[in-house]
Amino acid sequence: MKEEKIHLHDKTFKPYIRHERILDAIDGVARELNSDFHGCTDIPVVLCVLNGSIPFTGELLQRIDFPCQLVSIKLSSYQGTQSTGTVLNVMGLTSSVRGRRVIICEDIVDTGNTIVALKEMLLDKEGAAEVRICTLLLKPEVYNKPVKLDYVGMEIPNAFIVGFGLDYNELGRNIRDIYVIDE
Ligand code: IMP
Repeated sequence: MKEEKIHLHDKTFKPYIRHERILDAIDGVARELNSDFHGCTDIPVVLCVLNGSIPFTGELLQRIDFPCQLVSIKLSSYQGTQSTGTVLNVMGLTSSVRGRRVIICEDIVDTGNTIVALKEMLLDKEGAAEVRICTLLLKPEVYNKPVKLDYVGMEIPNAFIVGFGLDYNELGRNIRDIYVIDE
């Protein structure tokens, strides 16, 4: 892991979680999913929440050993380093999930506004049969919703991070490791 700090727009970030540690967390989530969905006779939907979850979903898919279908949706709630509290459906589902079991793949759960709104929408509006939430990262100090997070890769303190899909105003998604803001 590079030890240097990085600069994105007007902010500086320092090394935080190395790539290998991220992959270990994804191994753990995949093990749980493979055990829970072992022998399933339906074809569950793996729902990638664009854009941040692309690297996570890509790695997770390679570890999933039951038949599944990849579907994507684009949502947005963050502006800069702050959650706006409003979840925007920027692009609809790339395929219908009606009557299907859905595994949401989220990069990070912060306030939980995004994931809770998405779960509700999938069940009430899109007719999903069941929705499970799978997130690579969770900020437990911030998450205060009564909705169960079924699979969590790693818990982190409440700090703004970038890398492995996560961005600061669209920069940083391509970085292999995760970096934390250097206040
Ligand atoms: P929530 O709705 O507050 O749970 O926020 C979830 C979304 O906000 C994630 O899918 C990310 O896109 C973004 N987000 C939350 N925390 C961070 C962070 O530390 N860095 C980058 N994006 C974040």
